[in-house]
Amino acid sequence: MQTLHVELGERSYPIYIGQGLLSRPEILSRHIAGRQVAIITNETVAPLYLEVLQQSLGGYSVACVVLPDGESFKNWETLQLIFDGLLTARHDRRTTVVALGGGVIGDMAGFAAACYQRGVDFIQVPTTLLSQVDSSVGGKTGINHPLGKNMVGAFYQPKAVLIDTASLNTLPVRELSAGLAEVIKYGLICDEPFLGWLEQNMSALRALEQGALTEAIERSCAAKARVVGADERESGIRATLNLGHTFGHAIETEQGYGVWLHGEAVAAGTVMALEMSHRLGWLSADERDRGVRLLHAAGLPIVPPQDMTPEQFLEHMAVDKKVLDGQLRLVLLKRLGEAVVTADYPREILDATLRTDYAALAHSINA
Ligand SMILES: NC(=O)c1ccc[n+]([C@@H]2O[C@H](COP(=O)([O-])OP(=O)(O)OC[C@H]3O[C@@H](n4cnc5c(N)ncnc54)[C@H](O)[C@@H]3O)[C@@H](O)[C@H]2O)c1
Ligand SMILES: [Zn+2]
Repeated sequence: MQTLHVELGERSYPIYIGQGLLSRPEILSRHIAGRQVAIITNETVAPLYLEVLQQSLGGYSVACVVLPDGESFKNWETLQLIFDGLLTARHDRRTTVVALGGGVIGDMAGFAAACYQRGVDFIQVPTTLLSQVDSSVGGKTGINHPLGKNMVGAFYQPKAVLIDTASLNTLPVRELSAGLAEVIKYGLICDEPFLGWLEQNMSALRALEQGALTEAIERSCAAKARVVGADERESGIRATLNLGHTFGHAIETEQGYGVWLHGEAVAAGTVMALEMSHRLGWLSADERDRGVRLLHAAGLPIVPPQDMTPEQFLEHMAVDKKVLDGQLRLVLLKRLGEAVVTADYPREILDATLRTDYAALAHSINA
């Protein structure tokens, strides 16, 4: 087992990474203060992992809340089901909420923990690659509003994150690739040597080799922990974690949620950010192509939807959270391994990026 730490003063917490951690009761119990535990999970994950987790929590009074599965349930009505479960089982302020599932469960259970009786302890047990390398670390919690994704929420840090790499054995391959988009993101924004490692190990990762997975998750969590430790509330460097996300959110919104997975849209959006960084003279064509190739090798789309117009992109990008005072700030790469957040670029370069023929780019690198 590997242990990393998110350093946030009195809100610091460990991230445990290893195979089979779900059945290691002593790890969880270190972080449970009271006698009561509430496991929040969903209909897909419960049949796979709820029983083993319940067994690990044998010494506690455990309530389980099994929610419907899907981003479309990340809302007030479903959140209410968590409070219903906690109150029905008479959980008090010393209860610990455990999120067992992907990012949707983690975001909702975390927000519920932030609100229930003005805040109770909370442990993340992420079971998708995306949630293991991204959403479970850093304390962003929340739900969607009909008018905007993740628009209602709180910063609320967990007491611990427990990552059982064996849980990825049951993950659909498309979801695995979607998580790899965020893994590659860390290499691009802050860890150039990691890109070389990923190039060497991509087939091992896609074959779910545990050693490779553990290392990729560890390096990703270490990067996220560093960035969050330096800028918990995203007043600066944390925004670089959104590489590819402004373009990607436009794709997700235009196509309708669920048609493209988040990581898939981020991959195509990252290709656009690589292209724009190249057009600004910051990346060479070879460096851009290296990033595109790696995303392709991870089984991700590298061509944005071809029926999407520049106007559609701009319309969706204008409502992105990174717009401050009317300026569209973008995460771009100064070099491979160094990201900047900037609104200071010629408008023509953005327009040219949106008009680029990405199918031809993909073809030129034999993808
Ligand atoms: N808080 C943050 O910092 C942050 C960061 C990134 C994303 N997010 C949020 O995370 C969510 C996306 O997370 P996600 O990609 O994990 O999606 P998800 O939670 O919807 O999980 C994807 C699918 O995999 C299933 N699943 C989960 N674990 C499984 C397993 N081990 N085996 C088989 N199936 C399994 C889920 O039930 C679901 O159907 C979005 O709501 C996004 O807004 C939050
Ligand atoms: Zn993301």
